[in-house]
Amino acid sequence: MKQFSTSEILNSLPKQFFASLVKKVGEYISQGYDVINLGQGNPDQPTPAHIVAKLQEAAVNPLNHKYSPFQGHQYLKQAAADFYFREYGVPIDPDKEVAILFGGKAGLVEIPQCLLNPGDTILVPDPGYPDYLSGVALAKAEMVRMPLREENNFLPDYGELNGNVLDRAKLMFLNYPNNPTGAVATHEFFEETIKLANEHDICIVHDFAYGAIGFDGKKPVSFLQVQGAKEVGIEIYTLSKSYNMAGWRVGFAIGNESVISAIELLQDHLYVSLFGAVQEAAAEALIGPQDCVKELNELYERRRDVLISGLHSLGWNVSAPRGSFFAWLKVPEGFSSTEFANILLEQAHIMVAPGIGFGEFGEGYVRVGLLSTEERLAEAVERISRLEIFKENSPNGEPLKAETEE
Ligand SMILES: Cc1ncc(COP(=O)(O)O)c(C=O)c1O
Repeated sequence: MKQFSTSEILNSLPKQFFASLVKKVGEYISQGYDVINLGQGNPDQPTPAHIVAKLQEAAVNPLNHKYSPFQGHQYLKQAAADFYFREYGVPIDPDKEVAILFGGKAGLVEIPQCLLNPGDTILVPDPGYPDYLSGVALAKAEMVRMPLREENNFLPDYGELNGNVLDRAKLMFLNYPNNPTGAVATHEFFEETIKLANEHDICIVHDFAYGAIGFDGKKPVSFLQVQGAKEVGIEIYTLSKSYNMAGWRVGFAIGNESVISAIELLQDHLYVSLFGAVQEAAAEALIGPQDCVKELNELYERRRDVLISGLHSLGWNVSAPRGSFFAWLKVPEGFSSTEFANILLEQAHIMVAPGIGFGEFGEGYVRVGLLSTEERLAEAVERISRLEIFKENSPNGEPLKAETEE
Protein backbone atom coordinates (compact mmCIF):
# COMPACT_ATOMS: atom_id res chain seq x y z
CA MET A 1 0.00 0.00 0.00
CA LYS A 2 1.39 3.39 -0.98
CA GLN A 3 1.86 5.83 1.90
CA PHE A 4 0.99 9.32 0.70
CA SER A 5 2.64 12.13 2.53
CA THR A 6 0.42 14.73 4.16
CA SER A 7 0.50 18.46 3.52
CA GLU A 8 2.54 20.89 5.59
CA ILE A 9 -0.62 22.44 6.94
CA LEU A 10 -1.90 19.06 8.11
CA ASN A 11 1.44 18.30 9.71
CA SER A 12 1.32 21.61 11.56
CA LEU A 13 -1.93 20.78 13.38
CA PRO A 14 -1.60 20.53 17.16
CA LYS A 15 -1.34 17.07 18.64
CA GLN A 16 -4.32 15.78 20.60
CA PHE A 17 -3.08 16.05 24.18
CA PHE A 18 -5.83 13.94 25.68
CA ALA A 19 -5.54 11.05 23.21
CA SER A 20 -2.99 9.16 25.32
CA LEU A 21 -5.07 9.64 28.45
CA VAL A 22 -8.20 8.34 26.73
CA LYS A 23 -6.19 5.32 25.56
CA LYS A 24 -4.97 4.65 29.08
CA VAL A 25 -8.50 4.86 30.45
CA GLY A 26 -9.61 2.41 27.74
CA GLU A 27 -6.95 -0.03 28.93
CA TYR A 28 -8.21 0.17 32.53
CA ILE A 29 -11.78 -0.38 31.40
CA SER A 30 -10.82 -3.34 29.22
CA GLN A 31 -9.09 -4.88 32.24
CA GLY A 32 -12.43 -4.76 34.02
CA TYR A 33 -11.88 -1.71 36.27
CA ASP A 34 -14.90 0.44 37.05
CA VAL A 35 -13.50 3.79 35.92
CA ILE A 36 -15.44 6.95 36.83
CA ASN A 37 -14.86 9.09 33.77
CA LEU A 38 -14.85 12.75 34.78
CA GLY A 39 -12.31 13.70 32.17
CA GLN A 40 -14.40 14.51 29.16
CA GLY A 41 -16.96 17.11 28.21
CA ASN A 42 -19.74 15.10 26.61
CA PRO A 43 -23.21 15.95 28.02
CA ASP A 44 -24.70 12.80 29.54
CA GLN A 45 -28.39 13.69 29.36
CA PRO A 46 -30.59 13.03 26.31
CA THR A 47 -31.93 15.78 24.06
CA PRO A 48 -35.35 16.94 25.37
CA ALA A 49 -38.21 14.89 23.89
CA HIS A 50 -40.00 17.79 22.14
CA ILE A 51 -36.83 18.54 20.13
CA VAL A 52 -36.39 14.91 19.12
CA ALA A 53 -40.09 14.75 18.16
CA LYS A 54 -39.60 17.78 15.89
CA LEU A 55 -36.68 16.05 14.19
CA GLN A 56 -38.76 12.91 13.65
CA GLU A 57 -41.59 14.89 12.12
CA ALA A 58 -39.24 16.96 9.96
CA ALA A 59 -37.21 13.95 8.83
CA VAL A 60 -40.14 12.54 6.84
CA ASN A 61 -40.77 15.79 4.99
CA PRO A 62 -39.34 15.35 1.47
CA LEU A 63 -38.52 19.05 1.32
CA ASN A 64 -35.84 18.34 3.90
CA HIS A 65 -34.36 15.61 1.70
CA LYS A 66 -33.18 18.20 -0.79
CA TYR A 67 -30.18 20.44 -0.34
CA SER A 68 -30.93 23.07 2.29
CA PRO A 69 -30.38 26.63 1.11
CA PHE A 70 -26.67 27.60 1.30
CA GLN A 71 -26.33 29.64 4.53
CA GLY A 72 -29.28 27.79 6.12
CA HIS A 73 -32.99 28.32 6.54
CA GLN A 74 -34.36 31.75 7.29
CA TYR A 75 -36.61 30.35 10.05
CA LEU A 76 -33.56 29.15 12.00
CA LYS A 77 -31.84 32.52 11.72
CA GLN A 78 -35.07 34.14 12.89
CA ALA A 79 -35.24 31.68 15.80
CA ALA A 80 -31.66 32.61 16.80
CA ALA A 81 -32.56 36.31 16.67
CA ASP A 82 -35.74 35.73 18.71
CA PHE A 83 -33.75 33.67 21.22
CA TYR A 84 -31.21 36.49 21.72
CA PHE A 85 -33.96 39.04 22.15
CA ARG A 86 -35.87 36.87 24.61
CA GLU A 87 -32.84 35.75 26.64
CA TYR A 88 -30.62 38.83 26.52
CA GLY A 89 -32.74 41.69 25.21
CA VAL A 90 -30.40 42.05 22.21
CA PRO A 91 -32.04 43.01 18.91
CA ILE A 92 -30.56 41.04 16.00
CA ASP A 93 -31.07 41.28 12.25
CA PRO A 94 -31.51 37.62 11.26
CA ASP A 95 -30.50 38.30 7.65
CA LYS A 96 -27.18 39.97 8.37
CA GLU A 97 -26.19 39.12 11.91
CA VAL A 98 -26.59 35.32 12.15
CA ALA A 99 -24.55 32.54 10.49
CA ILE A 100 -25.62 28.95 11.05
CA LEU A 101 -22.81 26.60 12.03
CA PHE A 102 -22.16 22.87 12.18
CA GLY A 103 -21.65 23.31 15.92
CA GLY A 104 -19.56 25.91 17.68
CA LYS A 105 -16.30 24.14 16.96
CA ALA A 106 -16.73 24.55 13.19
CA GLY A 107 -17.22 28.30 13.59
CA LEU A 108 -14.29 28.68 15.96
CA VAL A 109 -11.98 26.88 13.57
CA GLU A 110 -13.27 28.84 10.56
CA ILE A 111 -12.97 32.33 12.02
CA PRO A 112 -9.14 32.64 11.98
CA GLN A 113 -9.21 31.53 8.35
CA CYS A 114 -11.84 34.18 7.61
CA LEU A 115 -10.03 37.11 9.22
CA LEU A 116 -6.32 36.41 9.42
CA ASN A 117 -3.43 36.24 6.98
CA PRO A 118 -0.45 34.01 7.72
CA GLY A 119 1.61 35.59 10.50
CA ASP A 120 -1.22 37.74 11.86
CA THR A 121 -1.60 37.74 15.62
CA ILE A 122 -4.44 36.20 17.57
CA LEU A 123 -4.93 36.37 21.33
CA VAL A 124 -6.06 33.13 22.91
CA PRO A 125 -6.86 32.35 26.57
CA ASP A 126 -4.54 30.02 28.47
CA PRO A 127 -5.83 27.70 29.83
CA GLY A 128 -8.37 27.33 27.05
CA TYR A 129 -10.42 25.03 24.88
CA PRO A 130 -7.81 23.13 22.82
CA ASP A 131 -9.71 23.37 19.53
CA TYR A 132 -8.96 27.11 19.30
CA LEU A 133 -5.43 26.06 18.37
CA SER A 134 -6.66 24.11 15.34
CA GLY A 135 -8.12 27.22 13.69
CA VAL A 136 -4.98 29.17 14.52
CA ALA A 137 -2.79 26.51 12.87
CA LEU A 138 -4.97 26.29 9.75
CA ALA A 139 -4.74 30.07 9.34
CA LYS A 140 -0.96 29.95 9.98
CA ALA A 141 -1.52 32.71 12.49
CA GLU A 142 0.75 33.68 15.33
CA MET A 143 -0.79 32.94 18.68
CA VAL A 144 -0.21 34.99 21.81
CA ARG A 145 -1.54 33.40 24.97
CA MET A 146 -3.41 35.44 27.54
CA PRO A 147 -2.87 33.91 31.00
CA LEU A 148 -6.02 33.29 33.03
CA ARG A 149 -5.01 33.40 36.68
CA GLU A 150 -7.03 32.45 39.70
CA GLU A 151 -6.15 35.73 41.46
CA ASN A 152 -7.85 37.58 38.58
CA ASN A 153 -10.91 35.29 38.65
CA PHE A 154 -9.59 33.60 35.50
CA LEU A 155 -10.17 36.73 33.42
CA PRO A 156 -7.24 37.94 31.27
CA ASP A 157 -5.44 40.96 32.64
CA TYR A 158 -5.09 43.19 29.58
CA GLY A 159 -2.50 45.26 31.41
CA GLU A 160 -0.16 42.28 31.12
CA LEU A 161 -0.15 42.38 27.31
CA ASN A 162 2.38 44.72 25.82
CA GLY A 163 1.30 47.51 23.49
CA ASN A 164 3.05 45.98 20.49
CA VAL A 165 1.16 42.76 20.83
CA LEU A 166 -2.12 44.60 21.20
CA ASP A 167 -1.43 46.69 18.11
CA ARG A 168 -0.53 43.62 16.09
CA ALA A 169 -3.47 41.53 17.31
CA LYS A 170 -6.39 41.24 14.92
CA LEU A 171 -8.48 38.70 16.73
CA MET A 172 -9.17 37.64 20.31
CA PHE A 173 -10.96 34.57 21.60
CA LEU A 174 -12.72 34.68 24.95
CA ASN A 175 -14.93 32.07 26.59
CA TYR A 176 -17.22 32.58 29.61
CA PRO A 177 -18.58 30.59 31.40
CA ASN A 178 -15.14 29.20 30.91
CA ASN A 179 -13.89 25.81 29.90
CA PRO A 180 -11.84 24.63 31.78
CA THR A 181 -11.94 26.98 34.82
CA GLY A 182 -15.70 27.32 35.39
CA ALA A 183 -15.21 31.09 35.77
CA VAL A 184 -17.78 33.63 34.58
CA ALA A 185 -17.35 37.08 33.06
CA THR A 186 -18.76 40.33 34.36
CA HIS A 187 -20.42 43.17 32.50
CA GLU A 188 -17.46 45.40 33.44
CA PHE A 189 -14.95 42.95 32.03
CA PHE A 190 -16.77 42.93 28.68
CA GLU A 191 -16.89 46.76 28.75
CA GLU A 192 -13.15 46.80 29.25
CA THR A 193 -12.77 44.29 26.39
CA ILE A 194 -14.85 46.44 24.02
CA LYS A 195 -12.78 49.50 24.89
CA LEU A 196 -9.57 47.61 24.19
CA ALA A 197 -10.98 46.21 20.93
CA ASN A 198 -11.85 49.72 19.76
CA GLU A 199 -8.47 51.14 20.72
CA HIS A 200 -6.49 48.40 18.98
CA ASP A 201 -8.84 47.29 16.18
CA ILE A 202 -9.23 43.77 17.49
CA CYS A 203 -12.16 41.57 16.55
CA ILE A 204 -13.56 39.82 19.63
CA VAL A 205 -14.98 36.33 19.36
CA HIS A 206 -16.79 35.33 22.51
CA ASP A 207 -17.38 31.61 22.74
CA PHE A 208 -20.63 31.31 24.72
CA ALA A 209 -20.79 27.51 24.62
CA TYR A 210 -21.83 27.35 28.29
CA GLY A 211 -24.10 30.39 28.15
CA ALA A 212 -27.01 28.42 29.61
CA ILE A 213 -25.10 27.11 32.60
CA GLY A 214 -24.70 29.56 35.46
CA PHE A 215 -24.94 28.73 39.17
CA ASP A 216 -26.15 30.40 42.37
CA GLY A 217 -29.04 32.09 40.58
CA LYS A 218 -26.75 34.07 38.26
CA LYS A 219 -27.43 33.95 34.54
CA PRO A 220 -24.18 34.21 32.52
CA VAL A 221 -23.71 37.54 30.72
CA SER A 222 -23.78 37.53 26.94
CA PHE A 223 -21.05 39.60 25.31
CA LEU A 224 -23.71 41.07 23.01
CA GLN A 225 -25.62 42.45 25.99
CA VAL A 226 -22.88 44.97 26.55
CA GLN A 227 -23.10 48.24 24.69
CA GLY A 228 -20.86 48.42 21.62
CA ALA A 229 -20.22 44.65 21.45
CA LYS A 230 -21.66 44.20 17.97
CA GLU A 231 -19.35 46.88 16.63
CA VAL A 232 -16.30 44.89 17.66
CA GLY A 233 -17.23 41.23 17.55
CA ILE A 234 -19.44 38.21 17.59
CA GLU A 235 -20.61 35.53 19.92
CA ILE A 236 -20.61 31.81 19.13
CA TYR A 237 -23.64 29.97 20.51
CA THR A 238 -24.06 26.22 20.37
CA LEU A 239 -27.04 24.02 21.11
CA SER A 240 -24.70 21.21 22.23
CA LYS A 241 -24.75 22.08 25.91
CA SER A 242 -27.94 24.13 26.46
CA TYR A 243 -30.14 21.44 24.91
CA ASN A 244 -27.93 18.33 25.12
CA MET A 245 -27.54 18.31 21.35
CA ALA A 246 -23.79 17.69 21.09
CA GLY A 247 -24.26 14.93 18.53
CA TRP A 248 -26.52 17.01 16.29
CA ARG A 249 -23.84 19.54 15.29
CA VAL A 250 -25.73 22.80 15.33
CA GLY A 251 -24.91 26.28 16.54
CA PHE A 252 -24.66 29.80 15.23
CA ALA A 253 -22.42 32.85 15.13
CA ILE A 254 -24.18 36.10 15.97
CA GLY A 255 -23.19 39.74 15.97
CA ASN A 256 -20.95 41.89 13.77
CA GLU A 257 -22.26 41.90 10.21
CA SER A 258 -18.87 41.88 8.49
CA VAL A 259 -17.67 38.85 10.47
CA ILE A 260 -20.93 37.01 9.85
CA SER A 261 -20.69 37.57 6.11
CA ALA A 262 -17.05 36.40 6.11
CA ILE A 263 -18.09 33.16 7.85
CA GLU A 264 -20.91 32.65 5.38
CA LEU A 265 -18.58 33.19 2.45
CA LEU A 266 -16.12 30.58 3.67
CA GLN A 267 -18.96 28.16 4.46
CA ASP A 268 -20.40 28.63 0.94
CA HIS A 269 -17.16 27.10 -0.29
CA LEU A 270 -16.93 24.33 2.26
CA TYR A 271 -20.47 23.03 2.68
CA VAL A 272 -24.09 23.26 1.85
CA SER A 273 -26.01 23.91 5.08
CA LEU A 274 -27.20 21.44 7.74
CA PHE A 275 -29.88 18.79 7.19
CA GLY A 276 -33.20 20.67 7.11
CA ALA A 277 -34.73 18.47 9.80
CA VAL A 278 -31.87 19.36 12.16
CA GLN A 279 -32.52 23.02 11.42
CA GLU A 280 -36.22 22.62 12.22
CA ALA A 281 -35.42 20.84 15.47
CA ALA A 282 -32.84 23.50 16.38
CA ALA A 283 -35.43 26.24 15.86
CA GLU A 284 -37.81 24.29 18.09
CA ALA A 285 -35.10 24.11 20.76
CA LEU A 286 -34.51 27.87 20.65
CA ILE A 287 -38.10 29.08 20.59
CA GLY A 288 -40.01 26.13 22.10
CA PRO A 289 -40.48 25.38 25.82
CA GLN A 290 -37.43 26.26 27.93
CA ASP A 291 -38.14 24.32 31.16
CA CYS A 292 -35.56 21.76 30.06
CA VAL A 293 -32.79 24.38 30.25
CA LYS A 294 -33.72 25.35 33.77
CA GLU A 295 -33.89 21.71 34.85
CA LEU A 296 -30.51 20.98 33.29
CA ASN A 297 -28.95 23.93 35.05
CA GLU A 298 -30.36 22.73 38.37
CA LEU A 299 -29.03 19.24 37.72
CA TYR A 300 -25.49 20.51 37.13
CA GLU A 301 -25.70 22.73 40.19
CA ARG A 302 -26.72 19.79 42.39
CA ARG A 303 -23.83 17.76 40.99
CA ARG A 304 -21.44 20.63 41.59
CA ASP A 305 -22.58 20.85 45.19
CA VAL A 306 -22.12 17.11 45.77
CA LEU A 307 -18.59 17.23 44.38
CA ILE A 308 -17.40 20.45 45.97
CA SER A 309 -18.92 19.90 49.40
CA GLY A 310 -17.62 16.33 49.32
CA LEU A 311 -14.08 17.50 48.58
CA HIS A 312 -14.35 20.21 51.23
CA SER A 313 -15.31 17.55 53.76
CA LEU A 314 -11.95 15.89 52.99
CA GLY A 315 -10.21 19.14 53.80
CA TRP A 316 -9.43 19.82 50.15
CA ASN A 317 -10.49 23.43 49.84
CA VAL A 318 -11.13 23.68 46.14
CA SER A 319 -13.12 26.54 44.61
CA ALA A 320 -16.61 25.97 43.25
CA PRO A 321 -17.26 26.75 39.56
CA ARG A 322 -19.71 29.60 38.88
CA GLY A 323 -20.79 28.26 35.50
CA SER A 324 -20.09 25.63 32.78
CA PHE A 325 -20.19 21.95 33.69
CA PHE A 326 -16.59 21.75 34.85
CA ALA A 327 -14.88 22.08 38.20
CA TRP A 328 -11.28 23.29 38.12
CA LEU A 329 -9.45 21.84 41.08
CA LYS A 330 -6.10 23.04 42.31
CA VAL A 331 -3.99 19.94 42.83
CA PRO A 332 -2.41 19.29 46.21
CA GLU A 333 1.04 20.80 46.56
CA GLY A 334 3.94 18.78 45.28
CA PHE A 335 2.21 17.26 42.26
CA SER A 336 2.01 18.31 38.65
CA SER A 337 -1.41 18.14 37.05
CA THR A 338 -0.39 15.04 35.08
CA GLU A 339 1.05 13.29 38.13
CA PHE A 340 -2.10 13.97 40.12
CA ALA A 341 -4.39 12.84 37.28
CA ASN A 342 -2.33 9.64 37.01
CA ILE A 343 -2.68 8.99 40.73
CA LEU A 344 -6.44 9.43 40.50
CA LEU A 345 -6.60 7.03 37.58
CA GLU A 346 -4.21 4.42 38.89
CA GLN A 347 -5.24 4.42 42.56
CA ALA A 348 -8.88 5.54 42.50
CA HIS A 349 -9.87 4.67 38.94
CA ILE A 350 -11.13 8.18 38.35
CA MET A 351 -10.32 9.95 35.12
CA VAL A 352 -9.86 13.72 35.21
CA ALA A 353 -8.21 16.00 32.65
CA PRO A 354 -4.79 17.37 33.66
CA GLY A 355 -4.74 21.15 33.43
CA ILE A 356 -1.56 21.28 31.38
CA GLY A 357 -3.57 19.90 28.45
CA PHE A 358 -5.34 23.28 28.30
CA GLY A 359 -2.14 25.31 28.20
CA GLU A 360 0.85 26.25 30.29
CA PHE A 361 -1.28 28.23 32.77
CA GLY A 362 -3.46 25.19 33.35
CA GLU A 363 -0.58 23.53 35.18
CA GLY A 364 -1.39 22.89 38.82
CA TYR A 365 -5.07 22.11 38.20
CA VAL A 366 -7.22 19.24 37.02
CA ARG A 367 -10.57 19.59 35.30
CA VAL A 368 -13.48 17.50 36.52
CA GLY A 369 -16.63 17.19 34.43
CA LEU A 370 -20.03 17.28 36.15
CA LEU A 371 -21.34 14.80 33.62
CA SER A 372 -21.93 11.84 35.90
CA THR A 373 -24.75 11.29 38.36
CA GLU A 374 -24.68 12.65 41.89
CA GLU A 375 -24.17 9.07 43.11
CA ARG A 376 -21.10 8.59 40.92
CA LEU A 377 -19.67 11.94 41.98
CA ALA A 378 -20.21 11.03 45.62
CA GLU A 379 -18.48 7.71 44.94
CA ALA A 380 -15.58 9.58 43.35
CA VAL A 381 -15.24 11.68 46.51
CA GLU A 382 -15.33 8.55 48.59
CA ARG A 383 -12.60 6.92 46.48
CA ILE A 384 -10.49 10.09 46.77
CA SER A 385 -10.88 10.03 50.56
CA ARG A 386 -9.21 6.61 50.57
CA LEU A 387 -6.18 7.76 48.55
CA GLU A 388 -2.87 7.15 50.22
CA ILE A 389 -1.58 10.62 49.33
CA PHE A 390 -4.36 12.23 51.30
CA LYS A 391 -2.91 10.61 54.38
CA GLU A 392 0.77 10.16 53.62
CA ASN A 393 1.55 13.73 52.69
CA SER A 394 -0.31 15.40 55.44
CA PRO A 395 1.03 16.19 58.86
CA ASN A 396 -0.56 14.13 61.65
CA GLY A 397 -2.45 12.04 59.14
CA GLU A 398 -4.77 14.99 58.50
CA PRO A 399 -6.16 15.16 54.98
CA LEU A 400 -4.12 17.09 52.47
CA LYS A 401 -5.14 20.65 51.70
CA ALA A 402 -4.68 22.33 48.35
CA GLU A 403 -3.58 25.93 48.52
CA THR A 404 -6.77 27.41 47.18
CA GLU A 405 -8.92 30.30 48.16
CA GLU A 406 -12.66 29.98 48.49
C1 LIG B 1 -15.35 26.10 25.23
C2 LIG B 1 -16.01 25.32 24.16
N1 LIG B 1 -16.27 25.93 23.01
C3 LIG B 1 -16.85 25.28 22.00
C4 LIG B 1 -17.17 23.96 22.10
C5 LIG B 1 -17.73 23.30 20.89
O1 LIG B 1 -18.97 22.78 21.03
P1 LIG B 1 -19.77 22.30 19.77
O2 LIG B 1 -18.83 22.17 18.61
O3 LIG B 1 -20.38 21.01 20.16
O4 LIG B 1 -20.77 23.36 19.52
C6 LIG B 1 -16.91 23.26 23.28
C7 LIG B 1 -17.19 21.83 23.38
O5 LIG B 1 -16.78 21.13 24.22
C8 LIG B 1 -16.31 23.97 24.34
O6 LIG B 1 -16.02 23.38 25.49
